[in-house]
Amino acid sequence: PQKKLEDGLLPVAPPEEQKLPIDLDVNDDNSTVSITVVGASGDLAKKKIFPALFALYYEDCLPKHFTIYGYARSKMTDAELRNMVSKTLTCRIDKRENCGEKMEQFLKRCFYHSGQYDSQENFVELDKKLRDHEAGRVSNRLFYLSIPPNIFVDAVKCASLSASTSDGWTRVIVEKPFGRDTGSSAALTKALKQYLEEDQIFRIDHYLGKELVENLSVLRFSNLIFEPLWSRQYIRNVQLIFSEDFGTEGRGGYFDHYGIIRDIMQNHLLQILALFAMETPVSLDAEDIRNEKVKVLRSMRPLRVDDVVVGQYKSHTKGGVTYPGYTDDKTVPKDSLTPTFAAAALFIDNARWDGVPFLMKAGKALHNRRTEIRVQFRHVPGNLYNRNFGTDLDQATNELVIRVQPDEAIYLKINNKVPGLGMRLDRSNLNLLYKARYSKEIPDAYERLLLDAIEGERRLFIRSDELDAAWALFTPVLKELEEKKIIPEYYPYGSRGPVGAHYLAARYNVKWG
Ligand code: NDP
Ligand code: BG6
Repeated sequence: PQKKLEDGLLPVAPPEEQKLPIDLDVNDDNSTVSITVVGASGDLAKKKIFPALFALYYEDCLPKHFTIYGYARSKMTDAELRNMVSKTLTCRIDKRENCGEKMEQFLKRCFYHSGQYDSQENFVELDKKLRDHEAGRVSNRLFYLSIPPNIFVDAVKCASLSASTSDGWTRVIVEKPFGRDTGSSAALTKALKQYLEEDQIFRIDHYLGKELVENLSVLRFSNLIFEPLWSRQYIRNVQLIFSEDFGTEGRGGYFDHYGIIRDIMQNHLLQILALFAMETPVSLDAEDIRNEKVKVLRSMRPLRVDDVVVGQYKSHTKGGVTYPGYTDDKTVPKDSLTPTFAAAALFIDNARWDGVPFLMKAGKALHNRRTEIRVQFRHVPGNLYNRNFGTDLDQATNELVIRVQPDEAIYLKINNKVPGLGMRLDRSNLNLLYKARYSKEIPDAYERLLLDAIEGERRLFIRSDELDAAWALFTPVLKELEEKKIIPEYYPYGSRGPVGAHYLAARYNVKWG
């Protein structure tokens, strides 16, 4: 029961626990879903895919008849797969609960088939096993390609020719990287489309499954107060910041071929930017949203080399501990110039955003881990409090911060009077801290995305024209950086990154938040 406060305001209770958004008839007795994790022995499968599938199972989001198959070259029995998978399953939903029994039930639905990624024969064997489990029901099949990109096409070819279904749907989730540039990305799309229709391809960008990224549209389009301010008229600059406090350890081989611009900016940060800056879609339908994202991406200027700063972390000793430099990794060439940090200034040449710098910053081995969107508003014109009290309000424009992770939050920095008889201003936050407001744990991005793929919801997956537009922005600058062998600015492991990022921001009259 809500208690009336003295001033007549009611405290707002947190909303009822959310009902799960299932369009799927989970009790359907006539159909099955078979999920094959291709590359099941790998890091991503263990760390993210199996735990996400378990969380969905725990929440009763998987259909009544489902089977999970791990597929990879490594030799493993079903029992060994279950043992491997069980090590990373957690009772994420409610830590107080013992979900051991649910885990047991889940693991019994997991199987393993060992095979080559380019062997149709091995996929025919898989198909036979899937059929046995499907027991004559309408069969729907989802393949998750959790393998290195050079074998995507082989695996898609074999899966589609030898293990697709004829009575239900066949969908393929493809992990990034989707190519290295415009040409290789188009070639990959063309190769995949030899075997799949566009609507069977689910290109994953797991940032789109993050709670606060999904919330961006809600924030913009269901609150009156933000959208009218969402333009060059009121916004001075927008910052998209990604930082990690660890290096590329263990993934150096992959990373050296891609670098931070391809790893984070061209996909995760650009996707956030598109959702942030797009016009109002006609509806919440996947195609309407993706149409708007493509439009805004195509209105952007390709990034210029002068608008980019690149860096690479070097070894650093702190408190008696030595942290390795990027090139200390044995899988990275000693003379590698691959950036582990980049800052960039991007512009959208349309009526809404003309002249507003969108600054991106992404880096590994920095001093903290965070992903944020920071929106800095313009100055209050003719600000009374500046004139009359000489306060430093010039420095204190409003700022909206959307903290994607960790400690999800949305807060608005405002100027406020310090209570008392005098007149002193203070910068305060209107703060929505998720863990204070919502008791339920936020689902991992992979849970949402896997559920969407099973339901056939494409809104959070990347369409091929979006991908083309994204690569068009970054390909020229990547080519130039590589051809000119631009030397990155070195920064110590655990630092705030290259100072060049500050000069770049200063050129556009911006201070990083
Ligand atoms: P892994 O390097 O762990 O590879 C997955 C599996 O693929 C391995 O267990 C191995 O299985 C097989 N494999 C590895 N190298 C080769 C090769 N050269 N030829 C044939 N098979 C090979 O990858 P991850 O699990 O880290 O990532 C999977 C995909 O997801 C990649 O595309 C990656 O870019 C992407 N990704 C990964 C993230 C992560 O955090 N790990 C984050 C975001 C995207 P076996 O030998 O048993 O066949
Ligand atoms: C991946 C990148 O896409 O995202 C990694 O390849 C990065 O380099 C990871 O570490 C970050 O994801 P998250 O969800 O941990 O922020």
